Amino acid sequence: MTDAYDPARDGAQMSFAKDMSYGDYLQIDRILSAQTTLSDAHDEMLFIIQHQTSELWMRLALHELNAARDLLKTADFRPAFKMLTRVARIFDQLNSAWDVLRTMTPSDYTTFRNALGQSSGFQSHQYRLIEYVLGNRNTALLKVHEHRPDLFAVLQAELETPSLYHVALDALAQGTGREFDPDCYRMTSPHRLDADVVAAWAEVYRDPHKYWGLYELAEKLVDLEDYFRRWRFNHVTTVERVIGIKRGTGGTSGVPYLRKMLEVELFPELWDLRGEL
Ligand code: HEM
Repeated sequence: MTDAYDPARDGAQMSFAKDMSYGDYLQIDRILSAQTTLSDAHDEMLFIIQHQTSELWMRLALHELNAARDLLKTADFRPAFKMLTRVARIFDQLNSAWDVLRTMTPSDYTTFRNALGQSSGFQSHQYRLIEYVLGNRNTALLKVHEHRPDLFAVLQAELETPSLYHVALDALAQGTGREFDPDCYRMTSPHRLDADVVAAWAEVYRDPHKYWGLYELAEKLVDLEDYFRRWRFNHVTTVERVIGIKRGTGGTSGVPYLRKMLEVELFPELWDLRGEL
């Protein structure tokens, strides 16, 4: 038997009485003490961690989206594209995560469903913020945040800021020498398909070499929406698998509500133009 390998021989730091450790830097104690189950059900831990990790990834998605939007405003396309690609990968990561949650059966979920009360992902302020940043600005959904003035203020501030798509439309207008209807820039309602915007994107797609930056921007946005749609689809399929036709803990019709959300188009012109080419 050989002695167990000691990394200290390779110079690994082994004492952190005075120095910042991994756990100190990442505040692991705080993160790992936030999984407070409200029942004795085995699967509640999975349910909590699945939501918490999703929220952490959403936090990063917002960090990237906000920075990408700022860069696009100053026509600094390259680093913005890198960030938008990262957001699409984050959603891809979240899509794979559903496979873990799907190991929870309806029987498992019913063992702790009552403990959740009326709480639901429907009240995720970060999810709503992502939708608002992207341009899907349904203000009716603000109300569930009224009890938290701090979060309400963050969402309201976002509604006073041009969305990522607004900024993309500015770049499109400038790059193709057009002007879009002010209706395209409404701050407090979801973006609606506009024929002039379709025509402008179509012009870009007909001559990618002339408009390479805008062409790449369009594809980055389509990619992002593609992965976001898959997240919505995976969510509703998992929900149907777990609760069937039951109402959600948040009080909506559940699966029918989530199916309706599948119809939302973030960047409708980018999908529409494909039929024009
Ligand atoms: C078994 C697991 C899950 C079930 C049964 C479930 C169920 C539901 C239901 C029924 C709704 C509609 C609102 C309501 O009435 O409650 C909803 C919304 C939502 N859920 Fe889930 N969910 C699950 C997992 C997750 C996970 C892991 C996340 C990740 C954060 C999540 C995020 C959301 C979000 C963001 C909404 C709002 C969607 C929108 O308004 O478009 N859900 N969920």
